[in-house]
Amino acid sequence: MRNLKKYWSVAFLCLTLGLVLAACGSSTGSDSSGDKLVVATDATYAPMEYMDDNGNIVGIDIDIVDAIAEAAGFEVEYKNYGWEPLFAAVENGEVDFAVSSITITDDRKESFDFTDPYFVANQVILVPADSDVESFEDLKDKRVSVQINTTGHEVVKGLLGNTSSDIVATETMPLAITEMLNGNADASVGDNSVVLEYVKNNPDVELKTIEDDSFEKEFYGLMVQKGNSEILDLLNEGIQKIKEDGTLKELTGIDIE
Ligand code: ARG
Repeated sequence: MRNLKKYWSVAFLCLTLGLVLAACGSSTGSDSSGDKLVVATDATYAPMEYMDDNGNIVGIDIDIVDAIAEAAGFEVEYKNYGWEPLFAAVENGEVDFAVSSITITDDRKESFDFTDPYFVANQVILVPADSDVESFEDLKDKRVSVQINTTGHEVVKGLLGNTSSDIVATETMPLAITEMLNGNADASVGDNSVVLEYVKNNPDVELKTIEDDSFEKEFYGLMVQKGNSEILDLLNEGIQKIKEDGTLKELTGIDIE
């Protein structure tokens, strides 16, 4: 009887220990004291962030963050959250930061902190090759597709009105382009690198792109939870290093101060 009691207390101890260990092991990387940082992205944005044929998250943004991590001495793990969910994930500390071709805007700066800029982009209009659209103004009486809550969406709201039913806002940029190809929109508006990559990868689809002087320069930054200066400083240190040693320019082909 005594032996049985001993057996049970040992078993109980093991179980408790096991649970404690499991709890530790499953904690996410949101604790910045660990050396692996968890990074949220929307991997539908080739060539910046997308899934390769083996299901790995790859792209120019990923190469940039890998280089920043190496320069500043930390490890990274990427998670494909999708565009809208990644904002919530950064806000509530579920992840350490986000990389997703995110334009630094005054609006977003109210809720998030951003690193120094690492990339410069602008909006571009995508239309069927035979479209009569020649400028942004020409979209005034058209249906326009955009990825929801992007700067492209904002720009188009500025022209068509915030609640216009002529704006087709989709979860991803590829879906926005599909809406245009299906005839559900006359044009798409999105970041130049991604729209141009789509045109390049689909030579059999007859499309044309239009730049407009009214589109301002947009700067991409890594997005951090508001007030998390520990992560922000670490990322900025890495960005500074890869700017100075030429790595950033090598990866993007762009000279950014
Ligand atoms: N630069 C634009 C913005 O910040 C679009 C970014 C979309 N990125 C993505 N991975 N879907 O609003």
